[in-house]
Parts: sequence; structure tokens; C-alpha cells
Amino acid sequence: MSTKITFIGGGNMATSLIAGLICNDYIASDITVAEPDQKKCDKLHQLYAVNAFTDNQQAIADAEIIVLAVKPQVMQPVCKALASTVQKTRPLVISIAAGLLSKDISRWLGDNISMVRCMPNTPSLLNAGATGLFANENVSASQKQQAEQILSTAGITVWVEQETLLDAVTAVSGSGPAYYFLFMEAMQNAAEKLGLNQQQAKQLTLQTALGAARMAIESDDDVAILRNRVTSKGGTTEQAIKTFEERQLQDIVMQAMQAANDKAIDLAAILGKDE
Ligand SMILES: NC(=O)c1ccc[n+]([C@@H]2O[C@H](COP(=O)([O-])OP(=O)(O)OC[C@H]3O[C@@H](n4cnc5c(N)ncnc54)[C@H](OP(=O)(O)O)[C@@H]3O)[C@@H](O)[C@H]2O)c1
Repeated sequence: MSTKITFIGGGNMATSLIAGLICNDYIASDITVAEPDQKKCDKLHQLYAVNAFTDNQQAIADAEIIVLAVKPQVMQPVCKALASTVQKTRPLVISIAAGLLSKDISRWLGDNISMVRCMPNTPSLLNAGATGLFANENVSASQKQQAEQILSTAGITVWVEQETLLDAVTAVSGSGPAYYFLFMEAMQNAAEKLGLNQQQAKQLTLQTALGAARMAIESDDDVAILRNRVTSKGGTTEQAIKTFEERQLQDIVMQAMQAANDKAIDLAAILGKDE
């Protein structure tokens, strides 16, 4: 792929995606980043040999793909300022901003644009991310492929057919890392109460999380089968699982994820209001 890409915002996510593209042999001179902080511009140029500007307009002049990588709160003024150029050059626009609907970004950019909205998660910063993607009706098959190539440098990608399903993606993979952190935190605390020291509790908990995730990913079997396989009748694991079930773990998870899904809908309505 050799298409001119401009990142608007040169922060954590943009840097991670740029690093991923360069690792995948993307031509550095085809990548441009716009970032108000001159020091960050210099650093990105030094690290990856990409073009870096403090001026957004200059950065998008010949862009075929624009990746919007600024915080959701500044997206509206950023897009409105880019609108006249975007209406002339008609690039593919990819937004990685959490919670902002494609129709709102599209309206700020002047409508009828080809737009892919993505919901990446924090492990994307380690190339271990999970990203949900939605393409609006103006996006061509080859543009979908281009968007997927860019986001797949940060981890796995999953397309959804309706944008509303990105709220579910938010509830699963967007917020999901925090659920696992919470569970690990609870396990570490319990391990210490059972007599292990802090370091032992941490090492055993984290390695168990990593090992279980690797087994689940590398196995052809469903996680329910893997769980049954390590739950011997009358054994220790069975006792623990029984306790989780008595306390309705499945219901707790459903309620928590429904709450995340509903909050995503509320936030999108607030973030998408015209200033
Ligand atoms: N980090 C994650 O794990 C994660 C996960 C999912 C989605 N996202 C989404 O990814 C987007 C970027 O997040 P991030 O974590 O990379 O944030 P970040 O590190 O704060 O990056 C945003 C960058 O945009 C720059 N910026 C601010 N105003 C700008 C403007 N007018 N024009 C151009 N650049 C401007 C900021 O510069 P200054 O710092 O100098 O203001 C900063 O370098 C957000 O929309 C977020 O919702 C992030």
C-alpha cells in the first residue's frame, strides 16, 4: 500500500499506529502528522522519518487518507477547520475518537464524505489491541481494506455492519481491559489474604491471566470447554466456580456491560452536539 496518510494529532494512539505502519514497511515519506506541539513534531520526525507539521491545513494538503486522532472534546473545531479542504480533496476519513458518531463528524466536515469510524482499545498501544470498525455508505471496498490495514498494525480488527454495534464493541473491548484489571486486582487482594506476599500474589495472578488468555486464543475449543477441562469433579476449581455461580457472576457481567453500552449512547449524544 502506498497512499498518502495524514494523522491529525500526534499523541499516543497516532504514534502507536505510525510505529506499526513503519514496522510493516509503509513508506515514511507517505505519512504526515499534524501536531500543535513543535517538540512532539520533531520527535516523530526523528523517530520515524515522517513529515510533521504544526499546521493541520498544511498537513492535509495532499492526503488521500486522514486519520482523526485528537481527543473527542476538540474534534468539532478541528473538523470544522478542515471542512473546506476535505470537501475539495475528498479523502477517506478515519476517526479513532471514542464515542463520536460518524454522522456528527461527517456533518462537521461538510457531509457526504467517506468515513470509517473505529473503536480501538488501550492495548493497541502495545500492538495487542482489539478494534471495532464501521464504514459509512460512501466507503468503497478498497477504502475498507486500507482502513483495516492501518488499524490492524495495532492488533486485531472486527467490522460491524451497524454503527450502533460500536456501543457494544465499546462495552466489550473498549472498556474490557479495565474489567480484567479489576478481576486481577481482586485476585491479588485475595491471594494476599490467603497468605502470599504482594510480589508472589502479583506474579502468580498476572501470569495466570496471560496463560489463560493465550490458551483461549490458541485453542480451537470454546472457553466454556477449556473451563470444564480444568474443573475436576469434587476439586478446588469446582468449589470456586460454584461460589461465582451462586453469586450470579454472569448476571453481574451482563449488567455491567449493559451499563457501559448505555453510557456510550449517552456520551455520543453529548459529544455530537453542535457548539
Ligand atoms: N489511548 C487509548 O488507549 C485510546 C483508546 C481508544 C480510543 N482512543 C482515541 O484516540 C484518540 C487519541 O487518543 P490519545 O490517547 O492518542 O490522545 P493524546 O495522546 O492526547 O493525543 C491527542 C493529540 O492531539 C493533539 N492535538 C490537540 N489539539 C489538536 C489540534 N487542534 N490539532 C491537531 N492535534 C491536536 C494533542 O496535542 P497536545 O497534547 O499538545 O494538546 C495530542 O498530541 C482519542 O480520540 C481517543 O478517544 C484512544
